[in-house]
Amino acid sequence: MKYELKKIPNTFGLDVKATVFLEYDSVEELEKYIADGSITSPFLHIGEGSNLLFTGDYEGVILHSRISGIEVTAESEDDVQVRVGAGVVWDDFVEHCVKCGWYGAENLSLIPGEVGASAVQNIGAYGVEVKDLITSVETLDVKGMKRVFQVDECDYAYRNSLFKRFEIKDMFITYVCFRLSKKEHYTLDYGTIRQELEKYPVIDLKTLRQVIINIRESKLPDPKVLGSAGSFFMNPVVTRASFEVLREQYPQMPFYELDFDRIKIPAGWLIEQCGWKGKSMGAAAVHDKQALVLVNKGGATGAEIVALSNAVRLSIHERFGINIHPEVNII
Ligand code: EPU
Repeated sequence: MKYELKKIPNTFGLDVKATVFLEYDSVEELEKYIADGSITSPFLHIGEGSNLLFTGDYEGVILHSRISGIEVTAESEDDVQVRVGAGVVWDDFVEHCVKCGWYGAENLSLIPGEVGASAVQNIGAYGVEVKDLITSVETLDVKGMKRVFQVDECDYAYRNSLFKRFEIKDMFITYVCFRLSKKEHYTLDYGTIRQELEKYPVIDLKTLRQVIINIRESKLPDPKVLGSAGSFFMNPVVTRASFEVLREQYPQMPFYELDFDRIKIPAGWLIEQCGWKGKSMGAAAVHDKQALVLVNKGGATGAEIVALSNAVRLSIHERFGINIHPEVNII
């Protein structure tokens, strides 16, 4: 379907329009748009708009995949391989895995967005990243060339991948292939998961999914009620030397050791220490339950949210000497 001046879906709840909005249900339909010259520059491919901040209308073409389907391509006693359409809602896929008794995706329950975008962003939560489940990513580029990337070709890192690089933005993800385990195993060592699980008589996939949903719902705003894009900033990584200096001053500071010389500090803690939690600047605010999340209290513009983010970044730099960077893509 081709729409003109259509409102761009985005979980921040911003009122922004695209000059042209193209939606397709199959690879063939996308190929048709490529062949008939509908995809003129500038263009931008989006998922559910759950990790985007638009600072104004988009004067160009916005593309959105509605390719559906979860197809089992191989199965053994130990695991199952599935090929999933880029337009499948991420949490519908997780729910399907849990229902089928496939292990691995449950900690990623309730993350907003779609399967295609999950492979771009390398979404992660509670000790799991989607790269641990992906086997390959199928793409079509704007010239109509198909290419399949094996997971080790995708350059996955913390909230980052090959697909986020500028030179590869003309490539659209059509399907993502995953491997899930059929053997019972859980990732429980993050935060309060174990503690929450104690309230239930047994640990199984359904229970763990429910616990993750409960933890998320207690901290992260429901975009249908309060506009946001989840974590607005990435957690910064500092050297051990700077970490030691900071820890001397702030012994209660939480941290995760990535390796000997790289320590990750939760940006949410830094932001809270600077007094931002629950603070507003116009209609943009720092969420009162999780300082890493910026919210639209109603009627905020993208520019207002960017202004708040800049003010937060500046104060963290002044107090801690640390630069934090948005995880959200600012358009
Ligand atoms: N913290 C505070 N104050 C706050 C928020 C956090 O002091 O306002 C402290 C917490 O007490 C805890 C630490 O910071 O010690 C970490 O907080 P939390 O476990 O809530 O996780 P996070 O680092 O804030 C990351 C991801 C989330 C993911 C959670 C759980 C990033 C940018 N964010 O948040 O991902 O759900 O871990 O795994 O890596 C997202 O990317 O949109 C997202 C929500």
